[in-house]
Amino acid sequence: MNRIDFTHNTQAAQIIAANYDSPPLAFVHSFGCQQNVNDGEKIKGVLMDAGYGMCDKFEDADLILFNTCAVREHAEERVFGNIGALKQLKTKNPKLIIGICGCMTQQEGVVERLRKSYPFVDLVFGVNGIDILPQLLAEKMQAGKRLLKTPTERYDVVEEMPIRRDSTFRAWLPIMYGCDNFCSYCIVPYVRGRERSRKSEDILKEFRQLVQQGYKEITLLGQNVNSYGKGLEEPIDFADLLALLCQEEGDYHIRFMTSHPKDATRKLIDTMAKYPQICKHLHLPVQSGSDRVLKEMNRHYTVAQYMDLIDYAKKTIPGITFSSDIIVGFPGETEEEFEQTLELVGKVEYMQLFTFIYSKRSGTRAAEMDDPFTHKDKTDRMAKLLKLQESIASRLAKEMVGKTCRVLVEGHSRQEGTLAGRLDNNLLVEFQADSDYIGKYAQVVIEDARVTILKGKLA
Ligand code: 5AD
Ligand code: SF4
Repeated sequence: MNRIDFTHNTQAAQIIAANYDSPPLAFVHSFGCQQNVNDGEKIKGVLMDAGYGMCDKFEDADLILFNTCAVREHAEERVFGNIGALKQLKTKNPKLIIGICGCMTQQEGVVERLRKSYPFVDLVFGVNGIDILPQLLAEKMQAGKRLLKTPTERYDVVEEMPIRRDSTFRAWLPIMYGCDNFCSYCIVPYVRGRERSRKSEDILKEFRQLVQQGYKEITLLGQNVNSYGKGLEEPIDFADLLALLCQEEGDYHIRFMTSHPKDATRKLIDTMAKYPQICKHLHLPVQSGSDRVLKEMNRHYTVAQYMDLIDYAKKTIPGITFSSDIIVGFPGETEEEFEQTLELVGKVEYMQLFTFIYSKRSGTRAAEMDDPFTHKDKTDRMAKLLKLQESIASRLAKEMVGKTCRVLVEGHSRQEGTLAGRLDNNLLVEFQADSDYIGKYAQVVIEDARVTILKGKLA
């Protein structure tokens, strides 16, 4: 474990300040998952410490940073498109620094593509370079040439990084980094490196600060939170960590993601049942309802084992809701195997599904697999899945009508004068109230359900 090197960053801040007449502005945008969003918050924190102000429009910026995602090809191409659009800004402001960081940069070939085809990109760093960002910027300013290093693997955990959180009442709290699972379709273990857990004392310290600062919703993050604790000297697992955090007094609730079904335990469900602060919602990505496909995906569980945990959770925690990730059209997935996914979705009755058409990621095992099915086959399957899910979700939402629920009010909804908040079970409800409620808990009576959005009024 490392602590951030403040001496070097202070020297770097002086070099940065000398380069501008007034404090420079930075525009930071994160693509992809919550882990990346949290990294983006740390990037902003580190930059502010180094003397930067933040701006919302990239046209105003002296530094533009894209914190990228590599999970699907579509996301990657979108980033390249966004980078391309920055070219003309450089002609207007030659001092502008454009940087690319995050998962994409850790992938083979990406730095090379940036070097060759995007000459206006000045700086590249990987997922673990945030703490030394001021030093990189100072180096770039002093040397005056592009700094496009292929990110090296650094597997240490850096604690006490400055952070500028996007919200004042919802916070991300990473408990571990990386992934060791190597699901055959997934690029994450290659770009984010091996699993490493933060010490429970460091997590507890950050958690306590968040509660004291008035954060209401704290979401624990990890690619596979259920393998939390492996490799630490202290004997602790994820359920123990939850129980430890729940000892903290205060007005808050806890969510967590992502749980891998192979490591999720009955002990976890029992812990969720025991502590009222833990939301009664479980994101448990199944990916497929076919045992053959699951094996090819290297997921290490069967449909029966998955259903066993779901049934245990339903029995132990009445009212619990589930969500899942599903990949449609994994290489070689047959029509019958896809039907098995539909069958499983119907049995579990998810409140929410995140569905993805399989995207080939070179370097992964699945990229080498044969696939006789067309893109059209896959979009047809996706349409069927979405239709089924919509009917399930709207039925579950209707069951909420008449109930009075506590919600955390997140902000304005699209309709004027209306706020939106989230229930313990992750459903969104819209209701009329004034803006003072934002960031606080409210009791709301559910009056109606329009597909998956609930309508209600203050109780
Ligand atoms: N193609 C499609 N979906 C993918 N995911 C991960 N890799 C791929 C891929 N190559 C999905 C999985 C994972 C979620 C975060 O993204 O469902 O759970
Ligand atoms: Fe990717 Fe599987 Fe790791 Fe999730 S558990 S990040 S899907 S390899």
